[in-house]
Amino acid sequence: MATNGTTAEADEFWLFGYGSLIWKPPPHFDRRIPGWVTGYVRRFWQASQDHRGTPEAPGRVVTLISRSYWEQLVDHHDSAPDKVWGVAYRIKADRVAEVKEYLDIREINGYTIHYTPFYPAPGVDPALLPQNHHHDFPFRTLVYIGTPDNEQFVGPQDPQKLAEHIYRSSGPSGLNRDYLWGLEAALGELSPESGDEHVTDLSNRVRAIAAREEKKDRGEREQQHHEQPHNFRNAGDIDEQEETEKTS
Ligand code: SIN
Repeated sequence: MATNGTTAEADEFWLFGYGSLIWKPPPHFDRRIPGWVTGYVRRFWQASQDHRGTPEAPGRVVTLISRSYWEQLVDHHDSAPDKVWGVAYRIKADRVAEVKEYLDIREINGYTIHYTPFYPAPGVDPALLPQNHHHDFPFRTLVYIGTPDNEQFVGPQDPQKLAEHIYRSSGPSGLNRDYLWGLEAALGELSPESGDEHVTDLSNRVRAIAAREEKKDRGEREQQHHEQPHNFRNAGDIDEQEETEKTS
C-alpha cells in the first residue's frame, strides 16, 4: 500500500537534514536519501552559541522559516527556491532512542522538533524508501527548526553584514565560514538543481572578504618587515644562531 505522506511510517524513524546534518550525518543511520521539503525558506538567521560561535560572540547557522511567514518580511535576498533540498536519514531501529538523545543535545541551541513531508529525489532507488512506500509520495520526516519565537532567531540580515559576521565567527565546532562553505559544497553534491542562492551569495561574499583580509595581512607583514630596524634584525639572527649552537 502506498502512503500519502501525512501518516507516520510505522516503525521507521526518518530525519530530515537541511544544514550541517547534510555533511555531518547523525550516528547509526542505515539509509541516506537526497530530496526536498516545501513550504520553507532556508536562512542563516539562527544564532549559534555552542557550535559556530560562543555565548559572547554567537555565530550564524541555518534554520527554516515557514514560507508564508517569510513572505511578510523584508529580506534583501528576496527570492528563495520552492524546494529546500537536503537529505533524509533512516536511523537503525534499535538505535532510535540513542540518536534522538544525541540530536536533542546537538540541536539544543533554540531548535525544536517538527514533522514535515519529504520528497525523495527522482532516481532514488525505490528499495531505499520507507517500507511499502511509493516513490511519487512524500513521507514524514522529523526536522529540527529554530522558529521565529526562539531566543536565537535573529531574523532578516543585511547580506554583507551577515557575511562579515560569519567570516569573524568561530566556536567549538570550528570556523563559521567552514560551516557556510561546507553547506554550499554539500548542497552542490545532492543534485544539479539543489543550489540555494542565499547560501551561494553568502559564500561568495565570505570568499571575497577572506581574500581582502589576506591581502591586508600580507601588506601589513611586508610593511613590518620593511620597518624593522636593520641592526635589530641582525641581532635577532645572532641570538638565533647562539641558540642553535647551545642546543646542538
Ligand atoms: C540541520 O542540519 O538539519 C539542522 C541545522 C544544523 O544543524 O545545521
